[in-house]
Amino acid sequence: MNSLQEYPAYKRLPLQLREADGNYFHTADGKRVLDLYGGHCVNTLGAGDVGIGRALAAQWQECSFTTNLIDMPARQDLLHALAPGLPPGSWQMFCSNSGAEANENLLKLALNATGRDTVVAFEGAFHGRTAAAAAVSDQKNPAWPATPFNVRKLPWGSTSLIDSSVAAVILEPIQSLAGVIMPAPGFLNDLREACDRSGALLLFDEVQTGNGRLGEMWASQFFGVIADGFSTAKGIGGGFPLGLTFITESHAAKVPAGLCGSTFGGGPMAMAAAMQIQKRLVEPGFLDQVKKCGALLQAAAGVGPVESVQGAGLLLGLKISPSTTARQVRDALLAQGILTGLCNDPQILRLSPALTLNAADVSQFLDALTSLQFCE
Ligand SMILES: Cc1ncc(COP(=O)(O)O)c(C=O)c1O
Repeated sequence: MNSLQEYPAYKRLPLQLREADGNYFHTADGKRVLDLYGGHCVNTLGAGDVGIGRALAAQWQECSFTTNLIDMPARQDLLHALAPGLPPGSWQMFCSNSGAEANENLLKLALNATGRDTVVAFEGAFHGRTAAAAAVSDQKNPAWPATPFNVRKLPWGSTSLIDSSVAAVILEPIQSLAGVIMPAPGFLNDLREACDRSGALLLFDEVQTGNGRLGEMWASQFFGVIADGFSTAKGIGGGFPLGLTFITESHAAKVPAGLCGSTFGGGPMAMAAAMQIQKRLVEPGFLDQVKKCGALLQAAAGVGPVESVQGAGLLLGLKISPSTTARQVRDALLAQGILTGLCNDPQILRLSPALTLNAADVSQFLDALTSLQFCE
């Protein structure tokens, strides 16, 4: 008799999901839960967005899937829609299915474009779980027996050791899993200069910071520093798997065509979902609303157990006072019907809600925080 169980990858929350709608879950026992975690930055427009649903249904009718050997209007449409919002420059884009894949391809392109063998990454970083993405992540328990290239790990904020052996410097412009840690003023500019001096490519992992989350389309624009290549995933598909790798045309020209490839990457359904997200992100006032709600959430500083707020837009870390842990606050909020997130810093509660969050949702959260009581 066979048996099959799920591999225990995740410690599951005590929630029995019935359905998810916009910024809310409805549980099997009739509770309504405000989702301030957004499926780890995925649900750009909340759950069950009607426009994405319609676009997917229409695309399925028109062409559900075909080989990448055939060009298709859905991919051309997305290229045209994304281009105006990109950081200034001439770019090429490669489509895959996840953040880790997008980073693997980014690193592969940088190593091949430079012909060098070393990548600089940062302590605290998280870039995914596949071999190359894990190699440049700060793994507490290294998951792979060997790294596929030389990795030089620098403390966050350091610009040392970026020399002529370095193909690329990869970083999250805001380190999310580490604790929503902002770059110190000038750090990204200094990295840009160090890369220009050494001939290394500056690579941004915009899996979390991209797609409007900071109130600008990309972190490049938020911080005013342009990378040579960047990746995104999560929010770009709003729940439909999609990873994108962007590299400047001048660097792409140094790499043979056909170096990257994927069966599903760039498939029509993912293109249709991403297209719908782009349409919403460029609607007048959409990104202003992200900034506005982010600013309202900054008012959590000093409320209940929250000492201070870090991060930007709708990628925020709430620093919890030392007498309590973020986990205790997360659990207490969940008991009140609000889902928030944790990270590697036990004192930081992470928020990455849908970009459709509104002022009423923020007030509900601030009221709940105010009411929290913890025994010393
Ligand atoms: C910054 C960052 N990069 C890469 C990844 C990996 O993305 P995926 O899980 O889609 O492979 C994640 C996932 O959490 C992430 O937060």
